[in-house]
Amino acid sequence: MSEEEGNLSYKEAIEKASSSITRFPLIHIRGVPLMCHIASNWDSIWAFRPDPSDLLIATYPKAGTTWTQEIIDLLLHNGDAEACKRAPTPIRSPFLEICSPPPIPSGLDLLKKMDPPRVIKTHLPFQLVPPGFWENKCKAIYVARNAKDNLVSYYYFDLMNKTQPEPGPFDGYIGKFMRGELSWGSWYDHVKSYWVEKEKRNILYLFYEDMKENPRREVLRIMKYLDLSVSDEVINQIVELTSFKSMKENPMANYSCIPSPVFDQSISPFMRKGEVGDWKNHFTPEQAKMFDEDYEQQMKDVNIPFKSLI
Ligand code: PPS
Repeated sequence: MSEEEGNLSYKEAIEKASSSITRFPLIHIRGVPLMCHIASNWDSIWAFRPDPSDLLIATYPKAGTTWTQEIIDLLLHNGDAEACKRAPTPIRSPFLEICSPPPIPSGLDLLKKMDPPRVIKTHLPFQLVPPGFWENKCKAIYVARNAKDNLVSYYYFDLMNKTQPEPGPFDGYIGKFMRGELSWGSWYDHVKSYWVEKEKRNILYLFYEDMKENPRREVLRIMKYLDLSVSDEVINQIVELTSFKSMKENPMANYSCIPSPVFDQSISPFMRKGEVGDWKNHFTPEQAKMFDEDYEQQMKDVNIPFKSLI
């Protein structure tokens, strides 16, 4: 980044790059379709060396990443809401592999400017996570969301995120999801890739539905995993500050930092519904049957306790 680029805010940098924003094609890296800018910078992403104190938050897109980032930032700041409004989510907790046209800083650019311990977001499946994370025994939290709700959320996101491939009609989108053709590849392979590694790598594996069902319990699980200790009162505050409603209204958490040439929130807000079971409003009974039959096949080698209703 040049000095001039370095002085731009994230929003200004995106606005400056708006003429080069387009629905970028996907390029496969080791069989996984990734946005072309990520693929062309793959060597530097793979070579990233985290500090042992860095924390990784890994998810398939739209599984509850931002929610988890906010919970963790608040836990690390003892529930201090103002401290957690110091910058928007992607600045506080950079997105490891993201690369966009200049002058938008890449995830690696942002990480270079931060001192560890850092909270790092990734959507990479386990096999594409830079090996330095495991060599350095970094802590990692994986959040998984049931496939049908994850798909619906991703569909709306692809409508409004002008850098993602055109989603096309919903029926065809279901097929793309089932075949693993969306950015970051197959949901099925993704959730399985971390599930089978979770004990060996000491990964905390969470479910979006559990967070909705009992947010307090899941915040406590995260707190313990991070070896933190905060008071009951602070835990209650964190639960409140990370409710869907609070985060939707929080400009530092609702992605209003990304202007409309990239995120057109008039099409669909980033904080869209935040519910479990919204798939019922989108899948016809026939689509759900066909999806569930295929799901049985794709998931038969594991027993991951997903709930698609709570
Ligand atoms: S991204 O772009 O991959 O980082 O998106 P991600 O943050 O993983 O997922 C976005 C979905 O999570 C919902 N969300 C929440 N749900 C409940 N509570 C809170 N606090 C919360 N924050 C974000 C968000 O609304 C997206 O889901 P949908 O179903 O589209 O509403």
